[in-house]
Amino acid sequence: MTIEQLNQIQARTLEAMSARLGKRTPGGYKYEVMVCRDTGCSSNKGDKVMERLQDLVRERGLEHEISIKRTGCFGFCAAGPILVVYPEGTFYSRIKPEDAQRIFEEHLIGDAPVKDLIYPANILEDKFLPLHEAPFYKYQKKIVLRNTGLINPESLDEYIAMDGYQALHKVLTAMTPEEVIEEVKKSGLRGRGGAGFPTGLKWQYTREAVGDQKYVVCNADEGDPGAFMDRSVLEGDPHSVIEAMIINGYAVGADQGYIYVRAEYPGAVHRLNEAIANAKAYGLLGQNIFGTGFNFELELRLGAGAFVCGEGTALVQSIEGHRGMPRVKPPRMAQAGLWLKPTVLNNVETYANIAPIILKGADWFRTIGTEKSPGTKVFALGGNINNVGLVEVPMGTTLRQIIYEIGGGIPNGRQFKAVQTGGPSGGCITAAHLDTPIDFDNLTSIGSMMGSGGMIVMDDHTCMVDVSRFYMDFIVEESCGKCTPCREGTKRMLEILEKITEGKAVEEDLTTLHELAETVAHASLCGLGESAPNPVFSTMANFADEYHAHVVDKKCPAGVCTELTTYFITDQCIGCTKCARNCPVSCISGTVKQLHVIDQEACIKCGTCAEVCPVGAVIRR
Ligand SMILES: Cc1cc2nc3c(=O)[nH]c(=O)nc-3n(C[C@H](O)[C@H](O)[C@H](O)COP(=O)(O)O)c2cc1C
Repeated sequence: MTIEQLNQIQARTLEAMSARLGKRTPGGYKYEVMVCRDTGCSSNKGDKVMERLQDLVRERGLEHEISIKRTGCFGFCAAGPILVVYPEGTFYSRIKPEDAQRIFEEHLIGDAPVKDLIYPANILEDKFLPLHEAPFYKYQKKIVLRNTGLINPESLDEYIAMDGYQALHKVLTAMTPEEVIEEVKKSGLRGRGGAGFPTGLKWQYTREAVGDQKYVVCNADEGDPGAFMDRSVLEGDPHSVIEAMIINGYAVGADQGYIYVRAEYPGAVHRLNEAIANAKAYGLLGQNIFGTGFNFELELRLGAGAFVCGEGTALVQSIEGHRGMPRVKPPRMAQAGLWLKPTVLNNVETYANIAPIILKGADWFRTIGTEKSPGTKVFALGGNINNVGLVEVPMGTTLRQIIYEIGGGIPNGRQFKAVQTGGPSGGCITAAHLDTPIDFDNLTSIGSMMGSGGMIVMDDHTCMVDVSRFYMDFIVEESCGKCTPCREGTKRMLEILEKITEGKAVEEDLTTLHELAETVAHASLCGLGESAPNPVFSTMANFADEYHAHVVDKKCPAGVCTELTTYFITDQCIGCTKCARNCPVSCISGTVKQLHVIDQEACIKCGTCAEVCPVGAVIRR
């Protein structure tokens, strides 16, 4: 591949994509329909929607006028399956296979968008707003997710159309490795895998390390519960990672790369294999790239889905074919990583930032985000939030903006209680911190952390002690057992948390829990144990009254902990008998049109009575 050939592919493909880019040109289609085929939308029959539309276009012989293409995640999972019709960018949400016919007949043939299938907030009296003007999108800034939802991830040409592999050409032909590292350093990019270590500095250490063979590795293990940004990048824009890894190889002096991706991500694995094969076929990967004499090979290594294998030293063990267990640092990976050779390890999202930094420059990157955390961050917004999905915002955006303006607030009129950031290593932030501009340092200063970007919103029906127990349960399962503080300490912490949620704890247990947490945090071998107590620390600090209520008053204020919860039937009961008929242990007595009563001894606190009561007469205390 030469730069002339790359430019030709770009020009030709841009013409073919013209409708998608907002205008109709003679070389383009009348309509381009992009259907989300990410894991979420596909499992919700998005794939069937696309197949049906393709069949209809084929049956009418309209392949040259209407293009139906797959694309990656649009981010707005709560509105999925999503499809967007260009050039107008009409945003159809929650589409079912049976809706395909109407969209085809009325919009693609009849030129009249189907109003009742359009995302409601985008319907104005006299017009329909395009996708990017939906409240969910208009506060976002896309660098990492620039192509997901826009291009067909199976098409290398479409990646090239969006300036793909131009950054690689630039570094190989116009920059020395040192200049590449300098640009990345100047950009201030910090690793998006959790720790926030400066990426350029990491590259510099690996370049400076002495070694006949060096390696470049991509961490696509993504084990944090609730996080799926890495998967979406790999499924929706795999070449953004591949191109950056080749650039990294050139910068540090490596000719071999590995992507460590969990086997539970079959979509990402498939897409990566396909993308690597396509890049090789175009000569963008392999030997003598762009005729510069630079060689770079890339292979996948599949992980079995152990959380600890995301930790750098454990990941390296796993790639080498051993059981994934961390080791003591130093030596750092830059000195002794894979097969004890200098190795640079970066996260998927970190890589996805590289090509834009090279093409637009470090100064441009620094105009986005905060001084110490430039750029954007992708968050996986989940839990008790209306607009569940992936959100990419400039660093420094406040939690309030994310939760209320983008996330659409808390469902069912409930109150916000807390947001958990940083996955199992993070902490729970309260309403007092909703206006904190979030970046690496601010999140740490309020007792949480960025982690990989999981953001789980909790409403006032959440028990914070139970949340803490949940994360500790996860950590106990995932601890590799190599070091005693993590193996034993987290187990003992879990036991105490269980005692508290069961109403069996005494005040001394709280002191023991805190002391244990401190020991585990200080004495563990790797980041898993070091950060495992974070949810405990943050909930004990921010929700001390809830711990007190469980331990002293033997009450769960949120009504979550079964042993501390009682169901009562109030005199609002209309005697419909529904609760008694549905109770699985027949512990409710009463006759028609009479007040019913729950036998507290026999009640198993399953909550069925409250769920089925038509007048809300059953309350939980
Ligand atoms: C228990 C544990 C799990 C981790 N899991 C991941 C992961 O799934 N993906 C990731 O990129 N980093 C993960 N990390 C962080 C990595 O060790 C490492 O810091 C990161 O991959 C470096 O890339 P970055 O500098 O681009 O962030 C994990 C760390 C720990 C302690």
